[in-house]
Amino acid sequence: MQHMQRTNHDVTHVDAGEETALIESLEGKQGKPRLKPPFPANVGLWGCPTTVTNVETVAVAPTILRRGPEWFAGFGRKNNHGTKLFCISGHVNQPVTVEEELGISMRELIEKHAGGVRGGWDNLLAVIPGGSSCPVLPKTVCDNVLMDFDALKEAQSGLGTAAVMVMDKSTDIVDAIARLAYFYKHESCGQCTPCREGSGWLADMMKRMVRGDARVEEIDMLYEVTKQIEGHTICALGDAAAWPVQGLIRHFRGEMEDRIGRASLAAEQIAA
Ligand SMILES: Cc1cc2nc3c(=O)[nH]c(=O)nc-3n(C[C@H](O)[C@H](O)[C@H](O)COP(=O)(O)O)c2cc1C
Ligand code: SF4
Repeated sequence: MQHMQRTNHDVTHVDAGEETALIESLEGKQGKPRLKPPFPANVGLWGCPTTVTNVETVAVAPTILRRGPEWFAGFGRKNNHGTKLFCISGHVNQPVTVEEELGISMRELIEKHAGGVRGGWDNLLAVIPGGSSCPVLPKTVCDNVLMDFDALKEAQSGLGTAAVMVMDKSTDIVDAIARLAYFYKHESCGQCTPCREGSGWLADMMKRMVRGDARVEEIDMLYEVTKQIEGHTICALGDAAAWPVQGLIRHFRGEMEDRIGRASLAAEQIAA
């Protein structure tokens, strides 16, 4: 979809999938998000009221109209009704996109539709449950978590786009999150200082964290940078840059500290 939305005017790297960036792009300008309000429902394409919807929303609407809203609301838990397209990728035996009931457990979703985790459930390290912007969850949380908005929010992550990214124990989790940090730095359109500067800092610091080339106190500094970005930007790409790093620090701080410890020990041995 993203490719379809891009035009020759998208000379920046920003992901023109954000709804107001898409509108800007359709109007022939650079695909940079607009400050909101006004929201597109009031002032959208060419200044007219505009509704931007995901392809998934367009695809499910006719069935809801045909079968009735009660039918759709019959799926899922309270305040988390309906079905969702789950796109399951990574270290599973059969990567797949499947429509399932909201509230299915993560484990059942992966085992029923994606052939299970490569090497079995016990070989699971972590899952990003809602696409790259959502905080990563370690296996202990994945064991019982349900796949809906409230359950994943309670687990300090999110359903996001329901792009379930599965990582087994062979994954270098620090490197994986560093790669995401680089992606968001690359995608930032540069309009907001916290996102433009902060996403760069995150990417640079994460690059050093992968090598353990850092001081332990810098883990807290890294977290502080994410808090300076989060909620301080025009569009949600700023939050998207911050959250994966927050998830890493929350659940894999020990791994980051070990790496820093090993790197400084190696440096001392070389010096000696
Ligand atoms: C950085 C960013 C990128 C986005 N990219 C897409 C995209 O590629 N496709 C899409 O449908 N929505 C994307 N969105 C969400 C849209 O802004 C919008 O909320 C959504 O398309 C609304 O449709 P829905 O209510 O049917 O989900 C993006 C949002 C952000 C903040
Ligand atoms: S948050 Fe980032 S991508 Fe979004 S408008 Fe600001 S600078 Fe651009």
